[in-house]
Amino acid sequence: MDAHTEQQAVLRNAMRTLNMTRDAFAQRLGVTRRALDAWLLPSGSAESRTMPEVVGRFVAEILAARPARAAAPAAGAPAIAFEGKPQLLSTDQLDLDIVHELFRIADLLEPVARRHKVTRVLEGAVLGNLFFEASTRTRMSFGTAFCRLGGSVVDTTGFTFSSMSKGESIYDTSRVVSGYVDALVVRHPEQGSVAEFARATNLPVVNAGDGPGEHPSQALLDLYTIQREFSRLGKSLDGMHIAFVGDLKYGRTVHSLSKLLALHTGIQFSFVAPKGLEMPRHLLDRLAVNGHVVRETDRLAEGVKDCDVLYATRIQKERFAGEAIEGYTPEFQINRALADAACKPDTLIMHPLPRDSRADANDLSTDLDRDPRLAIFRQTDNGIPVRMAIFAMLLGVAQQIPHDLRDATWRSPRPVGPDDAVFEGFE
Ligand code: NCD
Repeated sequence: MDAHTEQQAVLRNAMRTLNMTRDAFAQRLGVTRRALDAWLLPSGSAESRTMPEVVGRFVAEILAARPARAAAPAAGAPAIAFEGKPQLLSTDQLDLDIVHELFRIADLLEPVARRHKVTRVLEGAVLGNLFFEASTRTRMSFGTAFCRLGGSVVDTTGFTFSSMSKGESIYDTSRVVSGYVDALVVRHPEQGSVAEFARATNLPVVNAGDGPGEHPSQALLDLYTIQREFSRLGKSLDGMHIAFVGDLKYGRTVHSLSKLLALHTGIQFSFVAPKGLEMPRHLLDRLAVNGHVVRETDRLAEGVKDCDVLYATRIQKERFAGEAIEGYTPEFQINRALADAACKPDTLIMHPLPRDSRADANDLSTDLDRDPRLAIFRQTDNGIPVRMAIFAMLLGVAQQIPHDLRDATWRSPRPVGPDDAVFEGFE
């Protein structure tokens, strides 16, 4: 791995592990914030600088002086485990040490995600992508992540074209494909169904959404995005204010992310939903730990006032079971007027996507598209290194990555999106 990528990964990992903002970390190292920023810039940037070796040694010393983690997994046991197998079904399985390890690996893999480097650590492995519900980004990004690790992918989409339409059980389906592939990513409309797939196989399995249940990989890429952006903005996750807006009853990304955030301390959660689509009570009860403050409201402007992160979601009509929702009017739209009136200049505006972009939709408006606060495409971009890191951990190849990176032979445009330039210069 090249020295610059390693330097960035080392610094990011240290700040995450020590829970320090860039300002606090620069002070701890006895350097200026400007110097630290320059070490964290991508190597292609004119302002980027190489960190002196002595600083690298100092960072390692600071990390080594930390007390050992309380409950390390037993030798040989997978770090991410469901009933003892390397499977990721819920954010309940994760603690901050595992999350930081995943993000450390994601940082190492970012040059691969950006097509500057290639790796073959999963050469020969085949992923089974089983999607029994609509998906564009989750299916494609899991597939892409596996391919960029050197593996290949076979897919099945929808019930109609699978043998489940002939009455085949989840157990049989899971057992059969386990004889074909090396890992499974499963999306299914019923809550708990992916756990059923997982119990019927010894392969690594990732839950890519089980009805209104969970979507742990989305929560991880959301948290990774918040951390990356907060690092740039000099903010800390502890004590931040996040407002979740929209369909909080069926929004599985909200369910998974709120539990992951609850691992931190003193977070102010605002749950802003139309009546009838409120966050499930059992999940709200789970947040009553670590000094968090939880508020619920159906008033949009009031709920998002001065938040650090506004996390918007789509109304999941396809999951409605006869709900009559009140108060869900066009005023329930996240747009520039709302962001300017109620949010701060550095509020992050996020959405798991897809958003309903039709003009009359009560979703995230396209009038924010050129606003640098809008982080939605940075979120989707981050999905690749994070999903690569999940595979690397579940399939046990993470250690090999630093020794297996080569330069890519082709060039891809940077930035990849025609509108991304508004954000250039921030990182
Ligand atoms: C979401 C999902 O499927 O849970 N999308 C995603 O995976 N990024 C949200 C949605 O469908 O509204």
